Amino acid sequence: MTAEIMKPENNINFTIEAGGVLKGSIRVPGDKSISHRSIMFGALAEGVTHVTGFLNGDDNLATLNAFRSMGVDITDPRDGQLDIKGVGMHGLQAPAADLDVGNSGTSIRLLSGLLSGAISKKNFNVVLTGDSSLSTRPMKRVTDPLKLMGALVETNAAGTPPLKIHGGKNLNGIDYLMPMASAQVKSCLLLAGLYATGKTCVTEPAPTRDHTERMLRGFGYAVKSNNGTICLEGGGKLIATDIDIPADISSATFFMVGATIAEESDITLEHVGINPTRIGVINILRLMGASIEIINERDVGGEPVADIRVRSAQLKGIHIPEDQVPLAIDEFPAIFVAASCAQGETILTGAEELRVKESDRIQVMADGLTILGVQNEVTEDGIRIQGAGNGSTSGRAIGSGHVESHGDHRIAMSFAMAALAANGPISIGNCANVATSFPSFIALANQSGLKIKSN
Ligand code: S3P
Repeated sequence: MTAEIMKPENNINFTIEAGGVLKGSIRVPGDKSISHRSIMFGALAEGVTHVTGFLNGDDNLATLNAFRSMGVDITDPRDGQLDIKGVGMHGLQAPAADLDVGNSGTSIRLLSGLLSGAISKKNFNVVLTGDSSLSTRPMKRVTDPLKLMGALVETNAAGTPPLKIHGGKNLNGIDYLMPMASAQVKSCLLLAGLYATGKTCVTEPAPTRDHTERMLRGFGYAVKSNNGTICLEGGGKLIATDIDIPADISSATFFMVGATIAEESDITLEHVGINPTRIGVINILRLMGASIEIINERDVGGEPVADIRVRSAQLKGIHIPEDQVPLAIDEFPAIFVAASCAQGETILTGAEELRVKESDRIQVMADGLTILGVQNEVTEDGIRIQGAGNGSTSGRAIGSGHVESHGDHRIAMSFAMAALAANGPISIGNCANVATSFPSFIALANQSGLKIKSN
């Protein structure tokens, strides 16, 4: 059975009234990165993996459907709970058709490595396809190192999807220095490495999210991390386990920024994952002067979790430290909104990776901010944003108008929060992909005090 995924043709716009106050206590949905990995590792494990806190968004459903198509029995997600009946490391079957992973970069990049290994002793191929945004995203960053391991993964001429993964190709471990800080590339190679002869080591130029390493250990697989080099030996197996997925800090970010820029706000975000490789947004907002309190820190299944209380604050512009960029890589659209409300200039450098996300997040945000009267200048690897502080000559820091999200979920949700500090309504086009990461966004945002409608 195929879980239903919202199609881009069912597109929707958001309209948000200006102003509002964010209040209360909410739990945003489960972490997207961890949800993907729970399905992937549960599918390859021996035994039944029980998952709680699963994000029932389109991206994760794409991963879930891909494994169902390869013969894995996975129950329908209900209230964030599901069971995966693992088929073992070599138990995947040939899918009847190409696997369409929609908008999901994590699915296609992690699956390229995982499947190169999982079908290395089979005589079938697997083709991975995606939507119009995914079909423009760079894949050589995974197919080149996979080739060094002995895999054969074809892209089209531009180095973009579809990807054709050939079965029957034995893999060998490699020692790979990643040219960019990418958790997707690291994870892809470690997953291929599970099936390789010998040892696979990946060295990252800067720390990136380490959910793959943590979860592999949770499934009983030895992974060594030392000074930015992560190594594992091929040929082992995964043992099913229970996984409790925390709320996604990337989804919590919209409310952190919203509560900071909306006067008199005070919101608590419950049970949020605060893995040190994901908290760049907290570090950056605090440097800008945000009031963020981390309460009740605890460990949940190998991932650190806490409640996060955020109150309104006047921000100041900063030069964002480059070492925070990979740790906040998905949070920049929202950080740009915060910067628009800060006193003075905020400068981002060393963030060229933002240009190859679900959209070119530097250009698309710059275009929208310009429409909303926020002065900015795009640079090759970042942006400079002139914040209007408590307000501009015409009132609040941000103007009113219609902006385009270009089908990028995080851009849509960031501009929605901008309305809290706007002097008139904001409308946003092409927002259906919010369902890829945060299907309950409209409901939770309204409940918290944002006056948002979709149509
Ligand atoms: C992800 C890694 C990041 C991030 C993406 C999810 C992951 O991508 O932007 O949303 O789950 O590994 P890169 O590894 O390409 O930076």
